[in-house]
Formats: sequence, C-alpha cells, structure tokens
Amino acid sequence: LHINGTEGAGRKIPDTFFGAFFEEINHAGAGGLWAELVRNRGFEEGGSSVPSNIFPWTMVGDDSTIKISTDRSSCFDRNKVALRMDVLCDGPKSCPSDGVGISNPGFWGMNIEKAHKYKVVLFAKASGAVDLQVSFVGSDNTELASNSIGSFGDNVTEWTRMETVLEAKATNHNASLQITTSKKGVLWLDQVSAMPVDTFKGHGFRKDLAQRVADLKPKFFRFPGGCYVEGGYMRNAFRWKDSVGAWEERPGHFGDVWGYWTDDGFGYFEGLQFSEDIGALPIWVFNDGLSLTDEVDTSMIGPFIQEALDGLEFAKGSAKSKWGSLRASMGHPDPFDLRIVAIGNEECAMSKYRGNYLKFYDAIKQAYPDIQIISNCDASQKPLDHPADFYDFHIYTNANDMFSKHTKFDDAPRYGPKAFVSEYAVWQSDAGNGTLLAAVAEAAFLIGLEKNSDIVHMVSYAPLFVNKNDRRWTPDAIVFDSHQSYGTPSYWIQHIFSSSSGATLLDSSLESSSDKIVASAIEYRNPSEKKKYLRIKVVNFDSDPQKFRFCMDLKVKSYGATKTVITGPNVKEENSFSEPNRIVPQHTSLQNPTSDMTLILPPYSFSSFDLLI
Ligand code: AHR
Repeated sequence: LHINGTEGAGRKIPDTFFGAFFEEINHAGAGGLWAELVRNRGFEEGGSSVPSNIFPWTMVGDDSTIKISTDRSSCFDRNKVALRMDVLCDGPKSCPSDGVGISNPGFWGMNIEKAHKYKVVLFAKASGAVDLQVSFVGSDNTELASNSIGSFGDNVTEWTRMETVLEAKATNHNASLQITTSKKGVLWLDQVSAMPVDTFKGHGFRKDLAQRVADLKPKFFRFPGGCYVEGGYMRNAFRWKDSVGAWEERPGHFGDVWGYWTDDGFGYFEGLQFSEDIGALPIWVFNDGLSLTDEVDTSMIGPFIQEALDGLEFAKGSAKSKWGSLRASMGHPDPFDLRIVAIGNEECAMSKYRGNYLKFYDAIKQAYPDIQIISNCDASQKPLDHPADFYDFHIYTNANDMFSKHTKFDDAPRYGPKAFVSEYAVWQSDAGNGTLLAAVAEAAFLIGLEKNSDIVHMVSYAPLFVNKNDRRWTPDAIVFDSHQSYGTPSYWIQHIFSSSSGATLLDSSLESSSDKIVASAIEYRNPSEKKKYLRIKVVNFDSDPQKFRFCMDLKVKSYGATKTVITGPNVKEENSFSEPNRIVPQHTSLQNPTSDMTLILPPYSFSSFDLLI
C-alpha cells in the first residue's frame, strides 16, 4: 500500500460517517435497552377483549384461595384492560404464608442484584380492606426483597398510584416480581412497573447495553426501525404519538413484523433522548402510510403528513408549542437536535411510495427547510426520479459477495443525494449467529465505503441487538440476556471503524497480485490523548497468510505504534456467553515503527496498524 502523505492530498470523511441503527426487533428495546423489568405491565398483551390472556403473569395461590380475571375497568383510557383478583382466603389461617396474588417473570427472568435498588410503581383499586405486598423472588424461591406498597380501607376506593423502592439482599438473574395479599376482598391492578433505580444517565436505559452502544461512539442513531416502523399491516405500524407521554398511559402495540407485543416504554421520546445521551444525531424513521402489506392512497395521506409534522414539532418545537410542550413535560424543555428524517423504510417498489414520498417531502421542506430527508430508493446505479438529501441502501448477503462489494460505490453517481448505508450485514450460513468470516467480509465492505465517503456519508450495521431468548433475526451486533451481553465479531469491527468519523482519508494505492486484499489509510486524532495517528486498515480474505508492505512519504514516530488484529483459528468461530472474548481485537505494540514496513496478515483477518505521526 503506497500512502501519499502530501498535505492536502487527503479528503475528510464526514463527521457523521459511523453510526448505529436501533430497531425494536429481537426484544432490542422491550426486554433489552429499556430497563423495565415487568413484561406486559398493563395486561394489554392479550388484546383488548376480556377475558384476556395475561401472559406471562401467573397466579400465586390456587382456585380455593384466589380467582384471577381481567376486565376493562382501568383508569387509563388508551389501555382499558385491568387485572382483577378476587381474594377468597382471609388472614394467616386460610391464606398461604406468602399470601396470594400474581407473579411476573419479566423477559425470561428479571435480573435482581444484591444492594441494588428497584422502584416499583403500580395502580390499584380495591373493594375490601386489602393490603399489598411487592417482592422479588429468586428462581430458587428465595425472597430477594419485599415491601408493603399500600393498603385499602373497607370502602371501594378509586384507582390509586402506589410506589415503593426495594433494595435487594441477594442476587438472582432469573427472578420474578410478586404482588400479594392475605386479606379477603377484590383488587384491581394495572400498569405495574419495576425499574432499576440506576439506569444509563438516569433515563431508564439498561446500563450495560447502553454502554455497549456508547462504546461504538456512534455519530448518529437511526430508530425505531426497520420494518417495525412499517408494520406487517398499517394497524400495527409504529405510531409515535402512542409512544410518548406518561408511560402508564401509553397503549402499547403488537409489533406484528417481529411477532411480539411492546408496551412502548422505549418510544419516540426515548429514542431522541438516547441519541442525545450517547452524543449521536437522531435519525427518525417514520411511517409514510405504507406497511409491508397495505398502502394508504396518496389522496388520503394528509393525516399521516400531519402526524410527521407534529413529530418534528415534538422534537424541535419550542416548549410553548403544542407538541414541544409535551416534550418539555417529559423532562426535556430544550429541543432535540433532530436534523435528518427518513420517509419510510424499504418501500421504494410499492405503488404508493413515490406519490406519498413527494407529499411528505414538500410539506416537511416547507415547514422545516433545514431538515434533511432520506428516500429509500437506491440511487447507487441510476439517479432518483425524486428529490432527496440521502438515499438509503441496505445489504444482507453472503461473505464472498459482501467482500466483493468493497467496490460497490466506486462507480456510483457523484452527484445528487448522498448514500446512507443504513443496514448492512453478512447473514445466513456464512454468518451463523455472528462469525469471524462475516466480520472480515464486512470490514472489507466498510473500507470500500470509507474510500467512497465523498458520496457515502453514513453507515450502520443491522440489527444492533438480540435477546438470546427470542432471536427473530440473526446475526446481530450485541447479544444479551437478563444480565450479561457480548459483542459479536461484527460488533468489534464496528468498534474499530468508529474512529473513521471525521478522520482524513489519505490518498493511497494498493499494488497486489491477489484480489483478496483490501486496504486503506486514514489520519485521525485520538481525542483522549490529543495525538495524531496514521491508521492503516487491511483485510486479508484469503485462506493463506499474506505478506503486506506499506510505505509512505510521511514521517512516523519511532515509538507508540500498535497493531490490532481480529482473526481466529476457524472462520466460523463465534463469541458466546461462555466465551465472550473468543474473537475480539488483539492489541500488541508494533516494534520499531517506520514508514516502510512489511508485516504478515493472518488468513481471514482484519488488521489495523496505528502509527504516531
Ligand atoms: O434489520 C432487519 C430488517 O432488515 C429491517 O427491519 C429491514 O429494514 C430489513 O429488511
């Protein structure tokens, strides 16, 4: 690799180059990034008819001591289903010693940790002098924490909000929340929440998962989907207005594309807030009247356009505006820095897309001329027939094809909208649940994007998260369960590429007899050290080791150089909970660095050489 270090020969890579794409898929949010421990907190998951399935809640007690049912007596208008408990036993003589009631296992077990505090909030109404106890119980039935949360007098009461903070005296990763009583009467419950007190930036995000995303230093955060935004049918599409305001008033909805209910704790506001918390620009994808199956005719798209404009006002309007004031009431009086939106996701081939798109485009540009708009029609081969600031490009393919796509944008038009590669991943048999082979091929693709960053302005991997208990899509970058997580090899490749955002791509040329090598060079500053580095990145997609020489007319310091390699004994190697660090970057120091060096690249590997300049 010949590197031309001449001043001015390089080109700046956009500051927003590397980002993250969050979709509510695989329980990424509900049972993932959103730290809510209770699943189906409003008893709405079984649908709005009653009696309703209250999965995964179960009864504590038996038919002789308690009767559980649902009715539509909730005090919340948008989620009317409430749980009714008819307590038949009375006092220690007829009730079991732990009382009777209901239990919630959360999302495949709640993670309760010793000395950590958890806030439990619920809404209750009673007829009879019932008192209520809330407890966390371990999978071995040990009590981890317990408090009285409230009691009622003899009269029928109105709905009452009750709250307590529990401190755990032991750890269990597979615990449940129990709500029990030992007094005869009728009790209604709704909107039961249990959240760790300690969350990422205090905003309700699960700390370890939020940190994994933050560690990627994403410069943008695209959310909340993906097909999730579209819905399999319009009736199940993501509608932002149902996902904001007080959590207990949100109706929740069935995300039919990925096949599960979400209480919408991680809603539109939380996506904007999380973006801000990790220093990323939010990129909001909204529904444009198209689902995977049905389409709203362009002649009737007006209400959807108003919904998008209201969403922009929610994010960007003053705290005095109608929707901005709702944002302010949620704790964020200042506008969010929303500058880019996507009109739908993957609908370019649908008959109403262009018509609907143009109506959205015109209305948004008129109300918010500075907002940049993403079309989901691919313009990498031929120009778009409609205006846009970016075009969206998605690619899921096998490893060889992904590797070969490092040249994908070499011949793409240099005029018109910029490319946003918002979803890329090697998938299916080459990828398993996240292999070395997939990651190495993706690294080559990313080097190609970096080289074409005059037109490719943003890139993000997909999907970001998977709860290992509910894999709806594989592979994913971050795998987690109730209490632990790890990055797949693809995650670690992203980790390395995060330094590309805002770096300078140096002019370089590769001379090689092999078409299995891809390389580039960038110049970047490490913000924590304030030092300037040259970073050479190389992929060897060959099954044999390769000799690699780089040379340049740049002076390098004779100290402080490092080598980072991602490789493994077998291309199908993956990380796992038992071996989370099997395939991770290996850092070593690069001895006697000079501006002309020859090194060995292991088979199927990604290497990066960092030299101080
Ligand atoms: O990333 C998973 C899915 O892949 C997204 O929902 C969709 O945009 C794409 O088809």
